[in-house]
Amino acid sequence: MRPVSLVLFLTFALLAFNADCILPGVAEEQKVWARAGSSAVLPCHLSPRKMGKSWKQQPDKTSVLWKRHGGSTHQEPHMVLEVGYSGLRKTALPMRARVSVQDSALRHGNFSLRIDPVRSEDAGLYEAQVTYNMEVQSCQVELGVITVTLSPPSPVVENEPLLLSCNSSHRASLVETRWFHNGRPVPTSRTFCSSHGALSILHTAMSDAGSWRCQLRYSDNKIISATYNLQILGFDGPTNPVVYAAAGSAADLPCTLSYLPSALGINVVTVHWSRPSGGHLQDGGISQNSSSRSFHLRLPVVGPDDAGQYRCAVSVGSKTISRDVTLAVVTVTPSIQGPVSEGSRLQLICSLTHPRGHERFQWKHLDSAPTNSKLAVATSHNLEGQRPQMGPTLEIPHVSQKDMGTWECSVHGPEGRLGAVEYGLQITGAQVSSPPTIFSGQATFGLTLTLFLLLTVCVLALALKKRARSPAFPALAGMVAVTVAKKKEMEENSKEKIQQTEC
Ligand SMILES: *[C@@H]1O[C@H](CO)[C@@H](O)[C@H](O)[C@H]1NC(C)=O
Ligand SMILES: *[C@@H]1O[C@H](CO)[C@@H](O)[C@H](O)[C@H]1NC(C)=O
Ligand SMILES: *[C@@H]1O[C@H](CO)[C@@H](O)[C@H](O)[C@H]1NC(C)=O
Repeated sequence: MRPVSLVLFLTFALLAFNADCILPGVAEEQKVWARAGSSAVLPCHLSPRKMGKSWKQQPDKTSVLWKRHGGSTHQEPHMVLEVGYSGLRKTALPMRARVSVQDSALRHGNFSLRIDPVRSEDAGLYEAQVTYNMEVQSCQVELGVITVTLSPPSPVVENEPLLLSCNSSHRASLVETRWFHNGRPVPTSRTFCSSHGALSILHTAMSDAGSWRCQLRYSDNKIISATYNLQILGFDGPTNPVVYAAAGSAADLPCTLSYLPSALGINVVTVHWSRPSGGHLQDGGISQNSSSRSFHLRLPVVGPDDAGQYRCAVSVGSKTISRDVTLAVVTVTPSIQGPVSEGSRLQLICSLTHPRGHERFQWKHLDSAPTNSKLAVATSHNLEGQRPQMGPTLEIPHVSQKDMGTWECSVHGPEGRLGAVEYGLQITGAQVSSPPTIFSGQATFGLTLTLFLLLTVCVLALALKKRARSPAFPALAGMVAVTVAKKKEMEENSKEKIQQTEC
């Protein structure tokens, strides 16, 4: 029993010494609350006046000793941090790397102890002893710790169940726990409150991110609260994105995380792209990078076979989150393959491999690429007068020269333009120099036409010969005149067109 009574005697002696000699310097005991994981400052300010006049001139003759009293763990008082006269620092083990005092602050009588980060076992009574010459001044600070526990532990990923709980080092019985999300009280219907006041979220969503505050009320009516900023690792953007790409063009499938993995303390991230339907992907679709948020998949040339579902799976430790991306390919199917002859009936059908049902199609004739700025102005002028055609099918009853060039089918949804595909229309049979391609079905028609033309020429020759004597075929002469007039009109039209494009 002897060593115990000796310790007790010494403790009493120390307390008596403190009470008797340094009473004017004893700051009243303060209580500081901190959340485990955050930082805490145990305040200790001693004014230079209290330290004596000579201190101001020689603040470097001061030593500071922060020690911790047993607390709940029934340890003996032990040193936490000491700054000696010479400025030499000592720190003791369990808190070694986490405690500090600021040199610059010391000179101004600020002997506060900073703990960063605080752990739940740091809760307890701390005391600072500031010694100058033979004078000892002291500060006593009680540190209370609130612990917010996440289960499963961080990082929290999208769609996982999550249990948030709060406890504190306050030694009274807990009466009630209330939760607040971004400042608003959380309705009890959404929560599962166990006897310990835990909050459970069945499927975490990105909207659950933000500040969560627990408010603990104890039987002695003390209310303690702590705030935790919940970060949820998930994906940016819509839940089921659809990427629209024109057949033959490149496509980028997005897969962007809500946070930079390294910002959440995650060092290794593995991303795996796959096709749930079992299609093949070049280079296996695997990448690793924790200093990037975006892991998009680039397909250099897409065809209708590439359309469908793609899955981006991101693995962080033992957790995996995935997002499905749909690639919808826009294609144009013409009713006539290859170059189209003038006068024929053409249908261009615009289709989407994966329609969601709300898409609208629009057809527009884009003029052939302008070669200079003057032409570009003219082109836009032309487009203004041209009304886009709605619907997936574009029908040209009689293909003519003015239909030549690029046609664009664009796909629109409620969110705006989704994508577009272009079709280049080439027309044959316009120039006389190029031999007309006669297909078996059209051969008889061609022959008839030639014979008819020959006959017309003969009749014309006859008519001209007989013209001097009598107009035997007045009706035919009229027809010829009309044809010639029409030809002239067409020539003028094309001249106009040229002028229009040149101005
Ligand atoms: C005292 O020093 C601590 C760091 O040791 C600092 O956090 C605190 O703000 C300072 N207090 C004043 C009043 O300067
Ligand atoms: C609060 O809960 C945490 C985790 O369950 C535990 O480590 C800590 O010791 C508890 N703190 C107190 C004061 O009971
Ligand atoms: C990871 O991503 C960052 C940012 O996008 C980039 O600068 C870096 O080169 C990438 N590292 C690797 C190994 O790909």
